[in-house]
Amino acid sequence: GPVYAVVPAAGVGERMKAGIPKQYLTLAGKTLAEHTLGRLLSFSPIDSVIVSVSSQDPWWPTLPVASHRRVSTVAGGKTRAESVRNGVAQALMDGGEEAWVLVHDMARPLVRLSDIQALMEQCDEQGAILALPVVDTIKQSGEDLHIDSTVDRERIWRALTPQLFPAARLYEALSADLDGVTDEASAIERQGGRPRLVAGQSDNIKITVPEDLPLARFYLARQFE
Ligand code: C5P
Repeated sequence: GPVYAVVPAAGVGERMKAGIPKQYLTLAGKTLAEHTLGRLLSFSPIDSVIVSVSSQDPWWPTLPVASHRRVSTVAGGKTRAESVRNGVAQALMDGGEEAWVLVHDMARPLVRLSDIQALMEQCDEQGAILALPVVDTIKQSGEDLHIDSTVDRERIWRALTPQLFPAARLYEALSADLDGVTDEASAIERQGGRPRLVAGQSDNIKITVPEDLPLARFYLARQFE
Protein backbone atom coordinates (compact mmCIF):
# COMPACT_ATOMS: atom_id res chain seq x y z
CA GLY A 1 0.00 0.00 0.00
CA PRO A 2 0.93 3.69 -0.13
CA VAL A 3 3.30 5.00 2.57
CA TYR A 4 2.49 8.28 4.34
CA ALA A 5 4.93 10.06 6.61
CA VAL A 6 3.04 11.50 9.59
CA VAL A 7 5.00 14.25 11.33
CA PRO A 8 3.77 15.61 14.68
CA ALA A 9 4.83 19.26 14.88
CA ALA A 10 2.26 20.80 17.19
CA GLY A 11 4.34 20.96 20.37
CA VAL A 12 5.24 24.26 21.97
CA GLY A 13 8.83 23.29 22.76
CA GLU A 14 8.71 24.60 26.32
CA ARG A 15 11.96 22.88 27.36
CA MET A 16 13.81 24.63 24.51
CA LYS A 17 13.13 28.05 26.11
CA ALA A 18 13.34 29.73 22.69
CA GLY A 19 10.02 31.58 22.59
CA ILE A 20 9.28 29.89 19.27
CA PRO A 21 8.49 26.19 18.63
CA LYS A 22 11.79 24.39 18.22
CA GLN A 23 11.15 23.22 14.66
CA TYR A 24 11.49 26.83 13.49
CA LEU A 25 14.97 27.29 14.93
CA THR A 26 17.70 27.26 12.31
CA LEU A 27 20.46 24.75 11.84
CA ALA A 28 23.04 25.49 9.12
CA GLY A 29 20.79 28.09 7.47
CA LYS A 30 17.58 26.05 7.35
CA THR A 31 14.81 25.54 9.88
CA LEU A 32 14.70 22.18 11.66
CA ALA A 33 11.32 21.62 9.95
CA GLU A 34 12.90 22.01 6.52
CA HIS A 35 15.70 19.61 7.40
CA THR A 36 13.25 16.98 8.62
CA LEU A 37 10.73 17.33 5.78
CA GLY A 38 13.46 17.60 3.15
CA ARG A 39 14.83 14.24 4.21
CA LEU A 40 11.42 12.55 4.26
CA LEU A 41 10.48 14.03 0.86
CA SER A 42 13.73 12.84 -0.70
CA PHE A 43 13.06 9.23 0.35
CA SER A 44 11.22 7.82 -2.67
CA PRO A 45 9.10 5.08 -0.97
CA ILE A 46 7.26 7.87 0.92
CA ASP A 47 4.31 8.99 -1.19
CA SER A 48 3.35 12.06 0.82
CA VAL A 49 3.88 13.82 4.12
CA ILE A 50 1.14 14.80 6.58
CA VAL A 51 2.18 17.37 9.19
CA SER A 52 0.20 17.98 12.42
CA VAL A 53 0.33 21.71 12.96
CA SER A 54 -1.16 23.78 15.77
CA SER A 55 -3.92 26.18 14.70
CA GLN A 56 -2.06 28.85 16.73
CA ASP A 57 1.11 28.42 14.67
CA PRO A 58 1.85 31.54 12.59
CA TRP A 59 5.27 30.28 11.41
CA TRP A 60 4.29 27.17 9.46
CA PRO A 61 2.63 28.98 6.48
CA THR A 62 5.79 31.06 5.96
CA LEU A 63 7.93 27.99 5.17
CA PRO A 64 8.40 27.23 1.44
CA VAL A 65 7.98 23.52 2.21
CA ALA A 66 4.42 24.22 3.46
CA SER A 67 3.30 24.61 -0.16
CA HIS A 68 5.14 21.53 -1.46
CA ARG A 69 2.68 19.46 -3.53
CA ARG A 70 3.35 16.31 -1.48
CA VAL A 71 2.92 18.03 1.91
CA SER A 72 -0.43 18.54 3.64
CA THR A 73 -1.46 19.43 7.18
CA VAL A 74 -3.92 18.31 9.84
CA ALA A 75 -4.77 19.97 13.16
CA GLY A 76 -2.46 19.25 16.07
CA GLY A 77 -3.76 17.78 19.32
CA LYS A 78 -3.23 18.47 23.02
CA THR A 79 -0.65 15.68 23.21
CA ARG A 80 1.80 14.19 20.73
CA ALA A 81 -0.34 11.02 20.53
CA GLU A 82 -3.43 13.05 19.56
CA SER A 83 -1.45 14.96 16.96
CA VAL A 84 -0.32 11.64 15.49
CA ARG A 85 -3.85 10.20 15.58
CA ASN A 86 -5.13 13.13 13.48
CA GLY A 87 -2.41 12.51 10.90
CA VAL A 88 -3.05 8.76 10.78
CA ALA A 89 -6.79 9.40 10.28
CA GLN A 90 -5.93 11.53 7.24
CA ALA A 91 -3.59 8.83 5.85
CA LEU A 92 -6.40 6.28 6.17
CA MET A 93 -8.83 8.59 4.36
CA ASP A 94 -6.38 9.31 1.54
CA GLY A 95 -4.75 5.89 1.21
CA GLY A 96 -7.39 3.42 2.37
CA GLU A 97 -7.01 0.24 4.41
CA GLU A 98 -3.75 -0.73 2.69
CA ALA A 99 -1.94 2.45 3.73
CA TRP A 100 1.16 2.43 5.94
CA VAL A 101 2.27 5.28 8.17
CA LEU A 102 5.81 6.22 9.04
CA VAL A 103 5.59 8.49 12.09
CA HIS A 104 8.57 10.80 12.59
CA ASP A 105 9.12 13.63 15.09
CA MET A 106 9.61 17.01 13.43
CA ALA A 107 12.21 17.55 16.17
CA ARG A 108 14.51 14.81 14.74
CA PRO A 109 16.08 16.58 11.74
CA LEU A 110 19.11 14.31 11.43
CA VAL A 111 17.41 11.01 10.56
CA ARG A 112 19.41 9.15 7.92
CA LEU A 113 17.75 7.76 4.79
CA SER A 114 19.75 4.55 5.33
CA ASP A 115 17.98 4.15 8.70
CA ILE A 116 14.55 4.67 7.16
CA GLN A 117 15.52 2.11 4.52
CA ALA A 118 16.58 -0.42 7.19
CA LEU A 119 13.34 0.17 9.09
CA MET A 120 11.26 -0.53 5.99
CA GLU A 121 13.25 -3.64 5.10
CA GLN A 122 13.04 -5.18 8.57
CA CYS A 123 9.43 -4.25 9.28
CA ASP A 124 6.76 -6.96 9.34
CA GLU A 125 2.97 -6.87 9.87
CA GLN A 126 3.51 -5.99 13.57
CA GLY A 127 5.27 -2.76 12.63
CA ALA A 128 8.77 -1.65 13.58
CA ILE A 129 10.60 1.23 15.24
CA LEU A 130 14.11 2.63 15.20
CA ALA A 131 15.75 2.25 18.59
CA LEU A 132 19.12 2.36 20.32
CA PRO A 133 20.48 -0.15 22.83
CA VAL A 134 21.23 1.65 26.13
CA VAL A 135 24.90 2.04 27.00
CA ASP A 136 24.57 3.05 30.66
CA THR A 137 23.80 0.81 33.62
CA ILE A 138 20.10 1.24 34.42
CA LYS A 139 18.72 1.58 37.97
CA GLN A 140 15.16 1.15 39.16
CA SER A 141 14.47 3.45 42.12
CA GLY A 142 11.91 3.57 44.89
CA GLU A 143 9.94 6.75 45.52
CA ASP A 144 12.64 7.74 48.02
CA LEU A 145 15.32 7.85 45.26
CA HIS A 146 17.19 4.89 46.74
CA ILE A 147 17.97 2.06 44.34
CA ASP A 148 15.63 -0.91 44.34
CA SER A 149 17.44 -2.87 41.66
CA THR A 150 19.66 -2.85 38.60
CA VAL A 151 17.87 -3.67 35.36
CA ASP A 152 19.49 -6.09 32.90
CA ARG A 153 20.49 -3.63 30.17
CA GLU A 154 20.98 -6.34 27.54
CA ARG A 155 17.36 -5.96 26.57
CA ILE A 156 16.73 -2.27 27.21
CA TRP A 157 16.33 0.03 24.21
CA ARG A 158 15.63 3.74 23.74
CA ALA A 159 12.77 4.31 21.33
CA LEU A 160 13.46 6.73 18.46
CA THR A 161 11.47 7.68 15.40
CA PRO A 162 10.55 6.87 12.64
CA GLN A 163 8.06 4.22 13.76
CA LEU A 164 6.29 2.31 10.96
CA PHE A 165 2.84 0.65 11.15
CA PRO A 166 -0.14 -0.31 9.03
CA ALA A 167 -2.32 2.83 9.24
CA ALA A 168 -5.51 0.96 10.21
CA ARG A 169 -3.74 -0.89 13.02
CA LEU A 170 -2.19 2.27 14.43
CA TYR A 171 -5.43 4.23 14.16
CA GLU A 172 -7.22 1.58 16.17
CA ALA A 173 -4.47 1.58 18.82
CA LEU A 174 -4.56 5.39 19.06
CA SER A 175 -8.34 5.35 19.47
CA ALA A 176 -7.98 3.73 22.92
CA ASP A 177 -6.97 5.56 26.12
CA LEU A 178 -3.82 7.57 25.34
CA ASP A 179 -2.81 8.31 28.92
CA GLY A 180 0.93 7.64 29.21
CA VAL A 181 1.33 6.87 25.49
CA THR A 182 4.54 8.62 24.45
CA ASP A 183 5.25 6.77 21.22
CA GLU A 184 3.30 4.80 18.63
CA ALA A 185 4.74 1.44 19.63
CA SER A 186 3.43 1.81 23.20
CA ALA A 187 -0.12 2.22 21.88
CA ILE A 188 0.31 -0.92 19.76
CA GLU A 189 1.83 -2.82 22.72
CA ARG A 190 -1.29 -2.06 24.79
CA GLN A 191 -3.28 -3.95 22.15
CA GLY A 192 -0.96 -6.93 22.50
CA GLY A 193 1.21 -6.09 19.49
CA ARG A 194 4.97 -6.66 19.53
CA PRO A 195 6.63 -4.27 17.06
CA ARG A 196 10.11 -5.08 15.79
CA LEU A 197 13.15 -3.12 17.04
CA VAL A 198 15.59 -1.91 14.39
CA ALA A 199 18.91 -0.52 15.62
CA GLY A 200 19.30 3.09 14.47
CA GLN A 201 22.12 5.64 14.52
CA SER A 202 22.86 7.67 17.65
CA ASP A 203 22.95 10.96 15.75
CA ASN A 204 19.16 10.79 15.21
CA ILE A 205 18.65 13.02 18.25
CA LYS A 206 15.43 14.73 19.29
CA ILE A 207 16.10 18.44 19.69
CA THR A 208 14.63 19.12 23.14
CA VAL A 209 16.84 21.40 25.25
CA PRO A 210 19.07 24.36 24.19
CA GLU A 211 22.30 22.36 24.32
CA ASP A 212 20.93 19.97 21.67
CA LEU A 213 21.39 22.62 18.95
CA PRO A 214 25.21 22.79 18.98
CA LEU A 215 25.22 19.00 19.21
CA ALA A 216 22.97 18.80 16.14
CA ARG A 217 25.29 21.20 14.30
CA PHE A 218 28.22 18.89 15.06
CA TYR A 219 26.36 15.73 13.95
CA LEU A 220 25.07 17.41 10.78
CA ALA A 221 28.58 18.45 9.72
CA ARG A 222 29.82 14.92 10.45
CA GLN A 223 27.11 13.38 8.25
CA PHE A 224 28.52 15.26 5.26
CA GLU A 225 32.20 14.46 5.90
O1 C5P B 1 7.69 17.20 23.29
P1 C5P B 1 8.44 16.21 22.46
O2 C5P B 1 9.87 16.63 22.24
O3 C5P B 1 8.30 14.79 22.89
O4 C5P B 1 7.73 16.31 21.03
C1 C5P B 1 8.00 15.39 20.01
C2 C5P B 1 7.29 15.82 18.75
O5 C5P B 1 5.87 15.80 18.96
C3 C5P B 1 7.65 17.26 18.35
O6 C5P B 1 7.91 17.27 16.94
C4 C5P B 1 6.42 18.05 18.73
O7 C5P B 1 6.17 19.17 17.91
C5 C5P B 1 5.30 17.03 18.58
N1 C5P B 1 4.09 17.32 19.40
C6 C5P B 1 2.84 17.46 18.79
N2 C5P B 1 1.72 17.76 19.53
C7 C5P B 1 1.81 17.95 20.86
C8 C5P B 1 3.07 17.80 21.52
C9 C5P B 1 4.19 17.49 20.76
O8 C5P B 1 2.73 17.30 17.57
N3 C5P B 1 0.71 18.28 21.53
